[in-house]
Amino acid sequence: MDKKQQAFFEGKFVPLEDAKISIMTTGFLYGTAIFEGMRGYWNENKKEMYVFRMREHYERMMDSMKIMHMDLKYSVDELCQLTVELLRRNAPQQDTYIRPTVYKSACKIGPSLENNPTELCMFTIPFGDYFHGSDGLSVQVSNWRRVEDNAIPARAKIVGAYANTALAKTDALTAGFDDCIVLSENGHVSEGSAMNIFMVKRGKLITTLGTENILEGITRNTVFEMAENELGIKTECRQIDRSELYMADELFFCGTGAQIGPITSVDKRLIADGKVGPISDKIRTLYTAICRGEHNKYHKWLTPVYHDKGNQFQNCNQVINASPNR
Ligand SMILES: Cc1ncc(COP(=O)(O)O)c(C=O)c1O
Repeated sequence: MDKKQQAFFEGKFVPLEDAKISIMTTGFLYGTAIFEGMRGYWNENKKEMYVFRMREHYERMMDSMKIMHMDLKYSVDELCQLTVELLRRNAPQQDTYIRPTVYKSACKIGPSLENNPTELCMFTIPFGDYFHGSDGLSVQVSNWRRVEDNAIPARAKIVGAYANTALAKTDALTAGFDDCIVLSENGHVSEGSAMNIFMVKRGKLITTLGTENILEGITRNTVFEMAENELGIKTECRQIDRSELYMADELFFCGTGAQIGPITSVDKRLIADGKVGPISDKIRTLYTAICRGEHNKYHKWLTPVYHDKGNQFQNCNQVINASPNR
């Protein structure tokens, strides 16, 4: 890791190697932390990095915080400013992952969220393909069930819940699959290990309900908007049975990490002819173009990091100094 890399840590920009928490921190001991994962896409022609749907990520982060009794004295706009500033300091010229984590920072025994201050840290790291170029994923239906809303709400991005993800993903990988599809306790399809899932049947794009213990993905919303507004494809949100997966015309994962990941077999059964389907392919192509800033209509979803025409992101010191809990 480059020594000059910086992190944002408990109210300051510091060298990444100095951004360290105590082993007694409750967020670490009990998983009482929430996070977001964003991508910055490098556009070589424009020598620009675009952060994809940054505001929406921070809006969702605020919702996760609400569930976990977390109170951070930054607004969504201020979080966007801090993120842009960190990227400028690290100055990546390649696709980059941005990981803010908000955590309970008291050093004590006991998991209570009360009387436990909330802190923020954030780093950036180069990040390419999640599936390492695999075109057409082979997945299994996991025998681990998705965490239920009344256990650990999946619609919040809670660090502790990712032990569930880790179990499902690890078993899929060690069994020789690329990833897995996880069911809810009720036996219906929930989502992938860390991504949402879409099925194509008779030309319609179908995904699972928000009440099926999914993280309601920003990429999932993006797919809806692209399908309806650009591709004229009908969409539907409904319960999906496991057996419908095997009979789908097409299947694909979507998520910030996974991007659009076509699935070509489930539990060793080919999906249709076992090739990437035409709708998945169209959506993947359009998504990539939008994220890289090659589609003017969707620039509204992108935050340019290096050429900030409206000087929207110049007041970072003010954000740090004015923050009431510093
Ligand atoms: C469990 C889970 N589901 C779905 C997603 C997809 O969400 P998004 O498209 O907002 O990245 C993610 C994460 O990135 C995830 O961790």
